[in-house]
Amino acid sequence: MTQSLFELEQKTDFIRRHIGPGEEDLRALLAVVGAESLDDLIEQTVPAAIRRPGPLGIGASMTEVEALAKLKGYAAQNKVAKSYIGMGYHDTHVPHVILRNVLENPGWYTAYTPYQPELAQGRLEALLNFQQLTLDLTGMDLASASLLDEATAAAEAMALAKRMAKSKSNLFFVADDVHPQVIDVVKERAVHFGFDVAVGPAAQACAEEVFGALFQYPTTTGEVKDLRVLIAAVQAQKGLACVSADLLSLLLLKSPGELGADVVLGSAQRFGVPMGYGGPHAAFFATRDAYKRSMPGRIIGVSKDARGKAALRMAMQTREQHIRREKANSNICTAQVLLANMASFYAVYHGPVGLKTIASRVHRLTTILALGLKAKGVALKHASWFDTLTVLTTGKSELIAKAEGLGINLRADLDGAVGVSLSETTTRGDVAELFELFLGTGHGLDIEALDQAAQAHHAIPQDLLRTDAVLTHEVFNKYHSETEMLRYIHRLEAKDLALNYAMISLGSCTMKLNATAEMIPVTWPEFGKLHPFAPLAQAKGYQLLLADLENWLVKVTGYDAVCMQPNSGAQGEYAGLLAIKKYHESRGEGHRDICLIPASAHGTNPASAQMAGLRVIVTACDKSGNVDLDDLRAKAAEAGDQLSCLMVTYPSTHGVYEETIKEVCDIVHQHGGQVYLDGANMNAQVGLTAPGFIGADVSHLNLHKTFAIPHGGGGPGMGPIGVKKHLAPFVAGHAVVKTDKESRNNGAVSAAPFGSASILPISWMYIAMLGDEGLKKSTQVAILNANYLAKKLGESFPVLYSGRNGRVAHECILDIRPLKEASGISEMDVAKRLMDYGFHAPTMSFPVAGTLMVEPTESESKRELDRFVEAMTSIRAEIAKVQDGQWSLTDNPLVHAPHTQDDVMDAEWSRGYSRAEAVFPSEAVRAAKLWPSVNRIDDVYGDRNLFCSCIPTEDYAK
Ligand SMILES: Cc1ncc(COP(=O)(O)O)c(C=O)c1O
Repeated sequence: MTQSLFELEQKTDFIRRHIGPGEEDLRALLAVVGAESLDDLIEQTVPAAIRRPGPLGIGASMTEVEALAKLKGYAAQNKVAKSYIGMGYHDTHVPHVILRNVLENPGWYTAYTPYQPELAQGRLEALLNFQQLTLDLTGMDLASASLLDEATAAAEAMALAKRMAKSKSNLFFVADDVHPQVIDVVKERAVHFGFDVAVGPAAQACAEEVFGALFQYPTTTGEVKDLRVLIAAVQAQKGLACVSADLLSLLLLKSPGELGADVVLGSAQRFGVPMGYGGPHAAFFATRDAYKRSMPGRIIGVSKDARGKAALRMAMQTREQHIRREKANSNICTAQVLLANMASFYAVYHGPVGLKTIASRVHRLTTILALGLKAKGVALKHASWFDTLTVLTTGKSELIAKAEGLGINLRADLDGAVGVSLSETTTRGDVAELFELFLGTGHGLDIEALDQAAQAHHAIPQDLLRTDAVLTHEVFNKYHSETEMLRYIHRLEAKDLALNYAMISLGSCTMKLNATAEMIPVTWPEFGKLHPFAPLAQAKGYQLLLADLENWLVKVTGYDAVCMQPNSGAQGEYAGLLAIKKYHESRGEGHRDICLIPASAHGTNPASAQMAGLRVIVTACDKSGNVDLDDLRAKAAEAGDQLSCLMVTYPSTHGVYEETIKEVCDIVHQHGGQVYLDGANMNAQVGLTAPGFIGADVSHLNLHKTFAIPHGGGGPGMGPIGVKKHLAPFVAGHAVVKTDKESRNNGAVSAAPFGSASILPISWMYIAMLGDEGLKKSTQVAILNANYLAKKLGESFPVLYSGRNGRVAHECILDIRPLKEASGISEMDVAKRLMDYGFHAPTMSFPVAGTLMVEPTESESKRELDRFVEAMTSIRAEIAKVQDGQWSLTDNPLVHAPHTQDDVMDAEWSRGYSRAEAVFPSEAVRAAKLWPSVNRIDDVYGDRNLFCSCIPTEDYAK
């Protein structure tokens, strides 16, 4: 044996498993693209001026075993206390059938946003259930399919109120008993929208005319107040009343809709999603039907397919930033689909009776606690409660210290009081322990006796008790046994295409391997069970993880600091633009408010700029898709001392490394502007170049693209921003958690200080297991795979843009327009026909209408790439048959795609092609067919006949 022990130890084995093509395949791929080696390919592709000279400096790769052991050591330094902090975050029992079969299941977590709904009916149904759950509990007309968190949902409510209110006032009122992190985010958002905000006692909501007001129900300190009079008063002066509500409490409380609210929002975390030190969780959002066009985020609607069968899809997409750009309702792209689905499954599993039992138990235990404390002379702030008590005390710090000693966290930020919020996980034993904490031993209280008293006590005002039936739809009343639930989850999963079935070559989305080892730590309780506002000393493991990750991302980006707060890419854009804005203000240049954005930019860029209060000016792209330097120069000069920044994506959204990027940065800097480099395409940079190195000042990183966080079917995501030193003091701070960062007193952009912290172990594992060598090689192979596809597919479909030496970056755009002109077959037909071949379509019509943008990533093997090439080549041949008249334009497998089992079961088959041609167009698909569960969906019908709640189950089959 000639191998060394080091070789036998397989220290770099993860690199081999993460990167799809093996050494032999790499040689074959290189031969096809005409490069001698990976280095040679990079030499030909990436402009010399921006290539980084040395290694990243992250170090050698760790094995899976080593990395998990190190992270376990970090996890052990998190102290999981019993959390009674509340403030919108509560411990929960994640039903194991959901934990294992949704949260830990790649069939659910590796899917993308349902842009191709025919192969996404499973998660669309789960999201529709989420909307129905929201509608039922809030008592509203229309709900959306999740927002990022409660605080940003509240900010979205404010923006909706401004759009829809008849009041001309510029003032938004926030009750001071709203959660502090929500107030923080709303205030920060208002500043940049140019709204005024007044925070005060709820009763003063209408002291001045307002365009809207925000109340918390129950309040942050636990009071259950009748909001009817306040809501009516806001509406009487033509403002909108927004209510941030606790979802579990709504099983017992009258819905905010019944109280008259215009917008209802909140967090669905306690519906079976771990607290995770702040996230990810889904926020819910509901409003009146009249405001539907103004709704932020995604809405799932019911439409029909080509056979008239009910089919689900994202509705009213024309409201979104992809189309409306700076005029969009919000910048939300990635939301919280996986977590919304978990919450909806939690509701399906427990059903209305189970949920009401949980809510009643939490409430009963709270009442027992309250009555016991009161009996012993302890004063409570409020006479009403659902699950939260504010206990008045003169010895707050001793009490909190004593609690911490017992492994108990109380809410600590209240003056002369502590907060105690009970949860689904609280037991009678826990209440007994709380009695001991507050009263010492020998208090003599008896839980059984207190239960008797509690049954006769009305802690919820009688006329706020819920009387209407909720969750009556059959989906919430069918799957309560574990067997039934397991099969329901599986049935939905089986309708969807995720990475566990085939490659998803969505350009700009980087659908790479989400390795199982990376996912394992996410569900460790040491990461999952921490409250985001737990004392920092209890989160040492998280601090170590964050420090490593920040340090690594600093190296990867070439910046000086990283802010971990934003929980999506678009949120990162917003946070980065605020840092730029505050930087200008700090230099007395607050008047700089022009944001230049090239025409090719992603829709979130202009939408974020608008949210940051900037004026968007679009700059042109030249014939090759590059930033038109002359136009940029002219517009930067014209903006002059009004220039705030440029937002530019690199490599460009056209999939090309622009040679002039340094010059682009220089032009902006010459006029005193800052450069925001959109980091969505970091997968083409890591280890080869870096935004800081190129000359940019700030970027977000979509950790859910380049750094292996799975996309969850449309979220979660994480969009931390990297900044140069001069911007570091201006990144987001937090109202509740004060770190030692110089930016700690700035306003927040998200509810939690470190965003969706519990998914950060994924990126930590990814970087640790790849190390310098693997990270760089991943980028190189991503570029190689894209160039291979460009070469192979270019034979059938013209590649629209390429850079130096005819190379593309990590993705390429196939132009379908000439073929459409010649044959009548559109990019949509190609996308849908790919489903018959078992593939998810590439990104359609972004950034150029009539095209398909393909991004294979480094994780796809040559075999999978070739299977895709075969499918696309075969589709090209099918188009040729339409072109030369063998198939008519109205009767061919492309325009009828996708085909379903219903099609092949038709007694009559009178089409101009065979059944086999329809559904088994390749050998590969014959061997393992994923049947689209519906035929092509009618988008127009769905929007004209908007229906966004559950339909009877039998309608799916009709
Ligand atoms: C170029 C670009 N910028 C920004 C974004 C927004 O990121 P997110 O979806 O995480 O909000 C995307 C997402 O697809 C993107 O492709």
